[in-house]
Amino acid sequence: MDAIILLGAPGAGKGTIADLVKEKSGYLHVSTGDMLRAAVKAQTAVGLKAKSFMEAGELVPDEVIIGIVRERMAQGGQDEKYMFDGFPRTLEQARLLDAVMEEAGSRVSRVFLLEASKELLVSRISGRRICRNCGAVYHVQNIPPQVEGVCDSCGGELYQRKDDSEETVLNRLEVYKKQTAALIDYYDAKSILLRLDASQPKEVTQARILEVLSRS
Ligand code: AP5
Repeated sequence: MDAIILLGAPGAGKGTIADLVKEKSGYLHVSTGDMLRAAVKAQTAVGLKAKSFMEAGELVPDEVIIGIVRERMAQGGQDEKYMFDGFPRTLEQARLLDAVMEEAGSRVSRVFLLEASKELLVSRISGRRICRNCGAVYHVQNIPPQVEGVCDSCGGELYQRKDDSEETVLNRLEVYKKQTAALIDYYDAKSILLRLDASQPKEVTQARILEVLSRS
């Protein structure tokens, strides 16, 4: 088993980069944000617990997250390679992941930190549009669809996430600073953190990550 992590503030490009990297690396993309949004849509017990936290831009409680990640990892085989996006987000979640990896005789091998200025993060989030049908992610200026409001891949309708409103975005950035940024030191101390400039074109970041993975 192997696990790598894409760490970074909301809007840094974790989901976009994960989609590009997974195609060429064999890593399974696990996004706790996507799992929670699916649970909210399906109105499961997890979704009902998570909804109000997500809408306010707050973190969903650790026990809920730990439950869904454990469940997801229990479905994978011994040879599975996980690429986490949006997880872990607290020290408690990071320690849990370490424990699960240790139980499997492995460890987190790399953490890619996507760094960007606050201005860039806010402009990326406010311009983000997502396909209601297939989940493809666009940006109204940076990565626009060929026809406004319509997904290039499947023709689905593009929409804006509820928690991408300006007020909620600013809270999400604060929450990142207060509760998640401590993970930078946590992984740096283990010498597995690699800092990447998230303002680069996505293909540049993808290539850098693939190059590092091919060497390990
Ligand atoms: P989650 O879905 O994980 O959201 P997030 O971390 O806030 O990250 P985003 O999805 O906003 O950004 P991203 O970095 O993936 O950027 P993207 O690639 O889309 O979490 C949502 C909520 O769920 C949380 O607030 C919390 O409530 C809850 N939650 C989830 N996980 C949790 C956990 N572990 N613990 C507790 N609670 C949890 O890119 C953004 C935009 O920029 C897009 O439009 C994209 O097209 C564009 N873009 C991306 N890269 C580039 C580039 N290189 N150049 C130009 N444009 C780019």
